[in-house]
Amino acid sequence: MQFYPIKVRQLDRSTQDCTIVTLDVTPELHDQFQYKQGQYLNLKTHINGEEVRRSYSLCSSPLDSEWKIGVKKVHDGKFSTYVHDELQEGDELEVAVPDGRFFVECTDTEQRNYVAFAAGSGITPILSIIKTHLTKEANSTFKLFYVNQSVSTIMLKEELEALKNRFMDRLEIYHFLTQEQRDVELFNGRLSEKKLEIIFKTICELDSLDHFFICGPEPMIFMIRDFLEAKGVVKKQIHFELFGTSGKSVKKKVPKAFDGKVSDVTVLEGGKSINFKTPQGVNSILDEALKNNADLPFACKGGVCCTCKAKLVEGQVDMQVNYGLEDDEIENGYILTCQSLPISDKVVVDFDEKG
Ligand SMILES: Cc1cc2nc3c(=O)[nH]c(=O)nc-3n(C[C@H](O)[C@H](O)[C@H](O)COP(=O)(O)OP(=O)(O)OC[C@H]3O[C@@H](n4cnc5c(N)ncnc54)[C@H](O)[C@@H]3O)c2cc1C
Ligand code: FES
Repeated sequence: MQFYPIKVRQLDRSTQDCTIVTLDVTPELHDQFQYKQGQYLNLKTHINGEEVRRSYSLCSSPLDSEWKIGVKKVHDGKFSTYVHDELQEGDELEVAVPDGRFFVECTDTEQRNYVAFAAGSGITPILSIIKTHLTKEANSTFKLFYVNQSVSTIMLKEELEALKNRFMDRLEIYHFLTQEQRDVELFNGRLSEKKLEIIFKTICELDSLDHFFICGPEPMIFMIRDFLEAKGVVKKQIHFELFGTSGKSVKKKVPKAFDGKVSDVTVLEGGKSINFKTPQGVNSILDEALKNNADLPFACKGGVCCTCKAKLVEGQVDMQVNYGLEDDEIENGYILTCQSLPISDKVVVDFDEKG
């Protein structure tokens, strides 16, 4: 995975636990760093001598030719704490080109009605999506349902207000607060099935909506997705981005103890081939390949971001968790190498086959 050294042009630490980082993508890199609304960047840096990689969604719009991310401080989090406490304007971060599938193409002809559900830092890709669609699609509408603890922790609040003023008759924003009381009961506390019932009865009609975007904590995402599917909304209209997982909803299988069998693994990437032997069913292909000095793409190592996706060309693997690959990708032989333990005598995976 190729990372480019990119300077931090501006840091905005205006809310208590959120930093907006504007990256100085120089004109020579503009073509490579073109992005779609809703995509993310993989960032890399060294913190206390350790290499740390994380993904951050772009909250700017591709229409503005800007590259901005919003980082929410996570308690005891390595990268987000570094961004909040240490990163300075002019510092350099290693950044890979934009990636991700949390978007739909803009339309030139249709009038579409979109809905988004966001919580906390989940607003970052949604802001980019709203801005881009409403700018490019003259008649489309957006309704945003956004959950935060309190007014003071609403991330990107000013940007949202500016959008609201710009698209007054096409954008509606409904704030839900979990630690502050509001007059209308619906807007107190987290989203729930009961609240979704009310939303789709009183605020918008399900039948009139074209696409649903969801970004926030895992339980919220899956609750909304399941609700929509149960109401007959088809999968291709529902788009979600997971920032991480609680590790609770899919129980990670415990890799079996080494039983003496070894897998001969070949990894193809960037026209190169790396070969190594590893015990079957113990460590992920990605981890073993990295130990063998392979330079492979990865970010979350949690089965979420899909950066480590590759095609299984030969052999069998046991994929521990998968939050990112679609059913058709799995049918076509794609795996998340950070989650896949080799379980046959020979395994070949190809990172160049992106599908
Ligand atoms: C596609 C994608 C897009 C994303 N976009 C954004 C975005 O726009 N904005 C944003 O803020 N975030 C975003 N994220 C999340 C982001 O990548 C990071 O996961 C997040 O910032 C936390 O990273 P960290 O290094 O600060 O925390 P980490 O160091 O990874 O820690 C995360 C949490 O785990 C706990 N923890 C860590 N190690 C242990 C341990 N050994 N035992 C127990 N607990 C532990 C920490 O206490 C902390 O609470 C995105 C993620 C993905 C996959
Ligand atoms: S590195 Fe994110 S899914 Fe494997």
